[in-house]
Amino acid sequence: MTLQGRSFIEPPDFAEDEYEKIFSLAERVMASPQDYAESAKGRLLATLFYEPSTRTRFSFEAAMLKLGGQVMGFSGENSSSAAKGESISDTVRTVACYADIAVIRHPKEGSARVAAMAAGIPIVNGGDGGHQHPTQTLTDLMTIRSEKGRLTGLKVGLCGDLKFGRTVHSLVRALCRYEGIEFILISPEELRVPDYVKAEIRRGCGSVYREVERMQDVLPELDILYMTRVQKERFFNEDDYVRLKDRYVLDAVKMKLAPKDMIVMHPLPRVNEIATEVDADPRAVYFKQVRNGMYARMALILSLLGV
Ligand code: NCD
Repeated sequence: MTLQGRSFIEPPDFAEDEYEKIFSLAERVMASPQDYAESAKGRLLATLFYEPSTRTRFSFEAAMLKLGGQVMGFSGENSSSAAKGESISDTVRTVACYADIAVIRHPKEGSARVAAMAAGIPIVNGGDGGHQHPTQTLTDLMTIRSEKGRLTGLKVGLCGDLKFGRTVHSLVRALCRYEGIEFILISPEELRVPDYVKAEIRRGCGSVYREVERMQDVLPELDILYMTRVQKERFFNEDDYVRLKDRYVLDAVKMKLAPKDMIVMHPLPRVNEIATEVDADPRAVYFKQVRNGMYARMALILSLLGV
């Protein structure tokens, strides 16, 4: 089956060999971007962002523009007919009359799937509430592959808001299909990974997990530390957010406990969870992730458009 015409709503929508195809295309684009500068000429990408975004929206727009395509879209639910009460299905059916492919970010879990069922053009989930964020996962896997040289046999610490962090849910669901992944889930009791994600780890390729509360205890054994922001916008109660927001702060002192070849990842935006002094540490790769993200999205757009 080809990727042409398909939607990308959650990581299991694509098989491992399809991920490989996207990564190798992304690497080719990265190596000679000029060869792809007109590949999407005459094609239009729509960005439907009902929630705030910097990287996801701009990286999709930059990706399409660098492929010679064009973009249109809105940012914020008040700037589309959603403000008048239009359903997601009607909005995407409308957009599909103009655009060849669309990215949607929406606060409701499941919204991107609903959009994909109505659209008739490829829909990419740019984040649906506290559920999934598969293109951040493409970015993350591409980064792990290039920094660690493999996607198997890794000890991965995920730290922070594992309950609402959609990037964590998608990354775990994708990684547990590779052999021998050990997840160390570092969070306060209230922000643990949802059960459906843990069930997927148990069904994975020999993947296991352990839940801990203290980052310092596990830092020395990690290959990867994936930090996340406490997702303020998903909390029902301001007091809980204030109590939990600064629970984990990675700084230069803690980095001394980590192996020399551990990498620190973060989907960004960061708030306080990584001190800026860590940025200069060669193990910090979060801005490399941003760069990889644009190439991963260029490869995804080319694959879904079938060009
Ligand atoms: C993430 C998101 O939107 O889920 N950001 C991103 O797309 N890189 C992470 C976050 O908002 O904390």
